[in-house]
Amino acid sequence: MKSTAEYLQDLKKWLADTADTPLEEMADFFIRRLHDYEEHMSVWEQSYQIFAESLPADCRKLLDLGCGTGLELDRIWRKDPQIEVTGVDLCRDMLDKLQEKHSDKKLVTVCEDYFQFDFGRDAWDAVISFESLHHFLPEQKEMLYQKVYHSLRDGGVFLLGDYIACCDEEEELLRDVCLKKRQEQGIAADCFVHFDIPLTLEHETGIMKKSGFHIEKVLDNPDGATIMIARK
Ligand SMILES: C[S@@+](CC[C@H](N)C(=O)[O-])C[C@H]1O[C@@H](n2cnc3c(N)ncnc32)[C@H](O)[C@@H]1O
Repeated sequence: MKSTAEYLQDLKKWLADTADTPLEEMADFFIRRLHDYEEHMSVWEQSYQIFAESLPADCRKLLDLGCGTGLELDRIWRKDPQIEVTGVDLCRDMLDKLQEKHSDKKLVTVCEDYFQFDFGRDAWDAVISFESLHHFLPEQKEMLYQKVYHSLRDGGVFLLGDYIACCDEEEELLRDVCLKKRQEQGIAADCFVHFDIPLTLEHETGIMKKSGFHIEKVLDNPDGATIMIARK
């Protein structure tokens, strides 16, 4: 495994090599890569499995934020095919693929921005998100996590699997590069782009706690996603 110094060195080299690569709008990014998306994500196999296993056994109704083609849902339904799912995603093409794979399941798909979509109140046993929220700033997450909190029933679970920055330097570096690229390309503040700006574990769980959650468990898998189990 790489040391933090080696990891940062490689990241800086990659950022320098891709300095002239333009940012892509979020949904367009996934539409262009849909043909090999699932194969590309197969390196996360172990994390998807752990994520599915981390969902409480009594979960009946769940909301998936940024569900894409449903790689996490494939594993969750393998465990319990009766779970009712509402999947929210910006990208219609990703949702169509999810529907194709799981036409036999209790599934509602919503093609909308999860910052805008009304999650309701006391509505879900679990709200989950895998590898979607690392594209957003802390202030955007604060609003979203409060909305997640109120939408869960008492004792409900927010299960988050995501890319976590290894240190403050990585978090700040990626955020600065993203901001600079946005400014250079004149991208409007309300336009979502595909560029990773993960937070450190301390900052990510800090926002969850501030939103009212109790952090029950963190499964920190350095070669995959970090999985955070937070309880209302
Ligand atoms: C890396 S994919 C992960 C998809 C799926 N969870 C998985 O692990 O295969 C990120 C997904 O988040 C969606 N997404 C990003 N920002 C979003 C937003 N603001 N509202 C809804 N979906 C969003 C993207 O369209 C994309 O499908």
